[in-house]
Amino acid sequence: MDQVNPEDIIHHLQHEDTGPLIAQAIPGSSHLTPFSTPYASRRDIPKYRIPQHGAPGDTVYQMLKDELDLDGRPNLNLASFVNTYLEDNAKSLLSANANKNLADNDEYPALLDLSKRCVSILAHLWGVQKGEKAVGSPTVGSSEAIHLGGLAMKRSWQQRRREQGKDASRPNIIMGANAQVALEKFARYFDVEARILPVSAKSKYRLDPELVRENVDENTIGVFVILGSTYTGHYEPVEEVAQVLDEYQKNTGIDIPIHVDAASGGFVAPFTFAGAGGAKW
Ligand SMILES: Cc1ncc(COP(=O)(O)O)c(C=O)c1O
Repeated sequence: MDQVNPEDIIHHLQHEDTGPLIAQAIPGSSHLTPFSTPYASRRDIPKYRIPQHGAPGDTVYQMLKDELDLDGRPNLNLASFVNTYLEDNAKSLLSANANKNLADNDEYPALLDLSKRCVSILAHLWGVQKGEKAVGSPTVGSSEAIHLGGLAMKRSWQQRRREQGKDASRPNIIMGANAQVALEKFARYFDVEARILPVSAKSKYRLDPELVRENVDENTIGVFVILGSTYTGHYEPVEEVAQVLDEYQKNTGIDIPIHVDAASGGFVAPFTFAGAGGAKW
């Protein structure tokens, strides 16, 4: 490759499209940061269209990284209990497999097998008994789990109602006012009436089983119960709500399911409350 004269670079930085020249001067990549290139000051990189000319990879990397740094930091996000820490080994596995499509997984049987093993591990953490069969599906997060779980409850309610020749057009779902926004989104996206029940000091600002009793009816597709509450992190009273629904079933014959949104408690509650792992925990 011909030597590039530094003065040419300066000239071009001031007057020309510099992408090709920089790429020529520093083949493949560069040591340049956006702050030492024309992109920082006078040259726009189009945001919504593919640029006419390329820019050095590490410049673009740094610009995108800086932009994404404007997001909240997950490890400092106490507000919504998503403060996550990932070990380097986990990060390395994730990035090595990021280009596999788990939703279209015929090509990736090993990945699929691993996700099945995760379902089994979770089922055992939650005390699955001999003869019981746990089913599960990986999701991007608790929000997607809420939407898929809610949809399953809606579909089985509709099917039941149609089989009985009853109206299936006015489903409702019950949750506490402390519920995270993803739960309300489920109702909005999937045309389900959200019955958002007030919380109080008496209910420890969680879903109140007594209010659940007053608000369930034949159109209730299910009840969202949270581990732990978005307000305070408290676990909501899953067992008490289940008892209320069992009583309702005894009186009316209508079986209403629960979706436990274990966004933050799914991996904690088994060790602290459900006796997972035996004495070790
Ligand atoms: C109770 C509850 N449900 C659902 C979510 C959404 O979780 P994700 O970010 O995993 O979709 C959160 C997140 O803060 C939450 O606190």
